[in-house]
Amino acid sequence: MTKKYDIAVLPGDGTGPEVVDEGLKVLETAAGKYGFDLNFSTYNIGGEHYLKTGEILPDEIISDVSKADAIFLGAIGHPDVKPGILEKGILLKLRFALDQYINLRPVALYEGVATPLKDKGPEDIDFVVVRENSEGLYAGAGGCLKKGTPDEVAIQESINTRKGVERCIRFAFEFCRKRNKAKKLTLCGKTNVLTFAFDLWERTFYEVAEEYPDIEADYAHVDAICMWMVKNPEWFDVIVTDNMFGDIITDLGAMIQGGMGIAAGGNINPEGVSMFEPIGGSAPKYTGKQIINPIAAILSTSLLLEQIGEVEAAASIEEAVKRVLCNDIKDVSAGKMGYSTGEVGDLVSNYVKAGTGD
Ligand code: IPM
Ligand code: MN
Repeated sequence: MTKKYDIAVLPGDGTGPEVVDEGLKVLETAAGKYGFDLNFSTYNIGGEHYLKTGEILPDEIISDVSKADAIFLGAIGHPDVKPGILEKGILLKLRFALDQYINLRPVALYEGVATPLKDKGPEDIDFVVVRENSEGLYAGAGGCLKKGTPDEVAIQESINTRKGVERCIRFAFEFCRKRNKAKKLTLCGKTNVLTFAFDLWERTFYEVAEEYPDIEADYAHVDAICMWMVKNPEWFDVIVTDNMFGDIITDLGAMIQGGMGIAAGGNINPEGVSMFEPIGGSAPKYTGKQIINPIAAILSTSLLLEQIGEVEAAASIEEAVKRVLCNDIKDVSAGKMGYSTGEVGDLVSNYVKAGTGD
């Protein structure tokens, strides 16, 4: 019997729907080629919907998408909505509600893509960041006193639980073993200053490392990691870190791999439902212009297929993207691709259809 997967689609705001369309196009092609069925259910939530109805993310949608096999998200963020409302109310709410405790962000420079790093090529920039995605500064612990007065106090605390830290670190070791490249896992922390939180991370890291003698366990402070990601990105294989540091270093990662148009990520619950997204924002100024690069969204569909077990189809999408970047698109930035958003989706789709061996 043909396998069938339910995919919840959240196109979101700005250019989100445009890039999601291309992701869906490529997913359909891959499904046809590799012999499985996809059933898409679309939910129109985001800034536009919020401004019209006052509704952010109804519980029924959380309950619906939690029954899907995977979620595909475009982008959340609207210029007329105060920062924080949609991010916390939709994106973070889904990550937390579905306990997607891993944020997986590959940083790979593909052939044909320009990096701002001098003298570095695809062989130097190929690592993956495993970002803890359910705790840390994102947990929302804290509060404020005497707001708006000269005596105002604001406290925002980083929550790190043994359970949360350990499950993330275990995932990273397993991932590093499966990836089977340099077999080196670097913990990115700040043990010289954050002596409570990163003491827990460091102890847990080296305890778990005992169970993975085949993996080199390495440590670096987050500031040094930023320096080395620019100077010696080839030193990294897999990096594991907390939520906030992971957020910051993966934007740096996106830049060295060619920009936000390329960077994809997965919010993963290994035991539940995972959500895949291009990591750039909604880029409202480009909305409807068909000039935004859909590659990040398309690559996130490859991560999605891998997660649901369609590994061959997943690999074919990544391969097709590599071909497009190498043969067709000369500049990956919005408006400079030489193709429209839809045409880039067609190019990838055609390579998937043609197959990688041909
Ligand atoms: C990301 C984004 C989000 C984050 C924002 C939009 C809440 O920057 O996915 O990296 O900080 O996690
Ligand atoms: Mn971010």
